[in-house]
Amino acid sequence: MRNGTHTKIQPPAIAGVTDIKANTFAKDVLKGLTSIPKSLSSKYFYDDEGTRLFIEIMQLPEYYLTAAEMDIFTNQTEGIFNAFSDGIREFDLIELGAGDGTKTAVLIEHFLNRGADLTYSPIDISKEACDALSAKFNAMFPGLSIHPHVGDYFRILQNLQNGSGRRKILLFLGSNIGNFSRVQTIDFFKQLRAVMNRNDLLFVGFDLQKDPHVIRKAYDDSTGVTAAFNLNLLTRINRELGGNFDLNKFSHYASYRPIECAARSYLFSHEKQSIYIEALNRSFQFEPWEAIFTEISQKYSLSMIETLASESGFEISKNFFDSKNYYCDSLWRPGQSHL
Ligand code: AVI
Repeated sequence: MRNGTHTKIQPPAIAGVTDIKANTFAKDVLKGLTSIPKSLSSKYFYDDEGTRLFIEIMQLPEYYLTAAEMDIFTNQTEGIFNAFSDGIREFDLIELGAGDGTKTAVLIEHFLNRGADLTYSPIDISKEACDALSAKFNAMFPGLSIHPHVGDYFRILQNLQNGSGRRKILLFLGSNIGNFSRVQTIDFFKQLRAVMNRNDLLFVGFDLQKDPHVIRKAYDDSTGVTAAFNLNLLTRINRELGGNFDLNKFSHYASYRPIECAARSYLFSHEKQSIYIEALNRSFQFEPWEAIFTEISQKYSLSMIETLASESGFEISKNFFDSKNYYCDSLWRPGQSHL
């Protein structure tokens, strides 16, 4: 769950339970490690090291998602432009959790060449991410008007709702939606629907179902970058909450469950052990080979995408697929019955 949840938490004054109230990370870790089964939220993957590792993951041959979405953006740019503009040449692109913007840059370049009157607003919880992206796009597209927003997606979108009066196109790329549970997904789309006007559009990246072996490898690459990405969560707890996880006593494991169409990532304890976390002022017991569930990466069929759209008040305007049919960027418009 990257975007909008990229949480930059200051190291707490590791002084005990009284600090927990003020620290969402500490509270979530306490909740996760006292749950059965144990869990830690994937939204905490993205500290500086986690963000760096995720960029490395996106370049791995096994992690096909990034290349598949790039295939769509580079080979179907004109089709995307036509579907976005649909006779309207002025629109505001708003990207939720923009990352490094590499894929979006392909679209913007084409749209500008086609004479679109465009603005670009990246929204991210991380100020550094927004600043870096704005600087990059300012250099790449000197004429483009860029309005970065730091903070919560829905609050910012609410403020933008009646702003320019132009068509807004919301981008939620990279199959980031896959890191939400089904309930969170519907809730997220409904909240977006609530801040969209009749002519606005939503463009969402979905990773499709495919050979389960291909999916599993994407979450357990041969070079161990994904393992390091998952284990970094324990390093973050050690650093920010005063934990004493020994990374040599835990390992990464990824599975794909074809019936649920979901990849799941875990951290396994190699042995019986007790972990102390100073900010929580308590220990947590691990049995040999006990798992901590850390991430779901949902995969989709077309009928799942259709159901999600209709259950959250949207209609599918057009689907774009890569050449291998691995991935779908789905363009949604607000459903008429909900207007
Ligand atoms: C950010 N998100 C869509 C990635 C995914 O595919 O679930 C995060 C990731 N986890 C392991 N590898 C990549």
